[in-house]
Amino acid sequence: MRFAALMSDLHVRPVRSDNELADWRHVHNVIIPGDPLSLDEVRERLGRNRLEVAYQGELLVGCTTVRPPGDNGAVVIVRVLPEHRGHGIGQRLYTRALEQARQLGGDRIETIVWAANTGGLRFAQAAGFVEVSRYLPPGEDVPYLTLRLA
Ligand SMILES: CC(C)(COP(=O)(O)OP(=O)(O)OC[C@H]1O[C@@H](n2cnc3c(N)ncnc32)[C@H](O)[C@@H]1OP(=O)(O)O)[C@@H](O)C(=O)NCCC(=O)NCCS
Repeated sequence: MRFAALMSDLHVRPVRSDNELADWRHVHNVIIPGDPLSLDEVRERLGRNRLEVAYQGELLVGCTTVRPPGDNGAVVIVRVLPEHRGHGIGQRLYTRALEQARQLGGDRIETIVWAANTGGLRFAQAAGFVEVSRYLPPGEDVPYLTLRLA
């Protein structure tokens, strides 16, 4: 009952305002501390990708990225702030983002997980993604994995 009430209170909306842009950036930078983005970098991504923010009531809980399909298929990335995990929010955001990627024509769907996010990796694998490549940025010791929906 409490779970249902919490879920019905989840609001997901496209990034439009400066506040939403800052919220999307906050979630990204908490979850990917090795690659913090400036507001201008988020604005630049907004020109290429569909970015959404998720709130439970007024509380920021997560964000999504959907990159339209190109040479390498569409990319779907879901992020939930650590203190809000394990309540089904990630699954809700994933279902929504996957639908958006398919509407954009993504036959091939990929995701990118920073390998340090072991929970994210297990989540992606449980959803049916399998690793297709990995990239280790110069000077870093944790790779980014690209996984494809099998
Ligand atoms: C992946 C992530 C979005 C999951 O968010 P969440 O709100 O905790 O996920 P949910 O509560 O909706 O769980 C969905 C399913 O994944 C499973 N799951 C979630 N986190 C898990 C973990 N750490 N280990 C194993 N399974 C996990 C849940 O058990 C659930 O499975 P079920 O439906 O069979 O019970 C969150 O951990 C995150 O933001 N990680 C960092 C970002 C990242 O790496 N994203 C890549 C995935 S696209």
